[in-house]
This record gives sequence, C-alpha cells and structure tokens, in this order.
Amino acid sequence: MNKHMLVKNLAPFSALSSTHGTISGLCDALEAVADSLPGNIDRHSCQCLSETLMPLLKLAQQREERQVFPPLRRKGGAAAMFDRLHQEHFEDLCFAEEASEALGRLARGEEVNTEATGYLLRGLFTTLRRHIVFEKDFLESLQATKS
Ligand SMILES: [Fe+2]
Repeated sequence: MNKHMLVKNLAPFSALSSTHGTISGLCDALEAVADSLPGNIDRHSCQCLSETLMPLLKLAQQREERQVFPPLRRKGGAAAMFDRLHQEHFEDLCFAEEASEALGRLARGEEVNTEATGYLLRGLFTTLRRHIVFEKDFLESLQATKS
C-alpha cells in the first residue's frame, strides 16, 4: 500500500479516535457528577457540563457522520449497521438533552430527585461508552475485511 492510500485509509480512524476521546471525556465528567450525588455536588462543574454536553456530543457525532462513516460506507455492505449507528447517535442526543437539563437544575441548586438524576447520568455514560466500543469494533472490522 502506498503512502497516499495509507493516509487515506487511516484518516477516518484518526477522526474516530478524536471523537471517541471527546465522548470519553464527557462520560468521565458525567460519572464524576453522578458519584458526587447527593451530598458533594460541585455546582460549577454541573453548569459547565450542562452547557457543553449537547454541543460537544453533537459535534463529535456530526464529525463521525461526515468524515468517518462515508469513506467506510463506500466500501459497500453493512448498511443496516450504519443505520444502527445513526439511530444510536439520535437516541444518545435525546438522552443527553434530558441529562443536560438535569445538570442545569443541579447547577442552580434546585430541588431534584438525586436518585433519579444519578440513574439518568449513569444510564447516559454507560450507553455512550457502549456505543463507542461497538462503533470502534464494527468500523475496524469493516476496514479489515474490505481493505
Ligand atoms: Fe458514534
């Protein structure tokens, strides 16, 4: 494989590594807030996460859908799996919107059900972590079989 082809083949995975790094960072921050409930809440962290969760997640997903999926999708096959990844992005974003609102309430010191909020935050970071493992495994296996 020549250098141009190698760079072309690696580019989607470089972007994927970057988006997954961003999402992993968000998961760690969500876990830290969940672990702080109910008695050790850092309202400033909740505020920051409330403001950045949706835009950062959306940006990471858009980058995957524009830079990572198309070159691999062009190799053919596995359409249903790409549809699944798109669907998971949409569902994760809906879930993140709900979490963002809950984080905003924590940041403002409003009365919240901390047990339900903890469950919500843990559900989100668990789902996001599961998504990135599945996505990475699927895309790498696709690359391996089609190159
Ligand atoms: Fe993704």
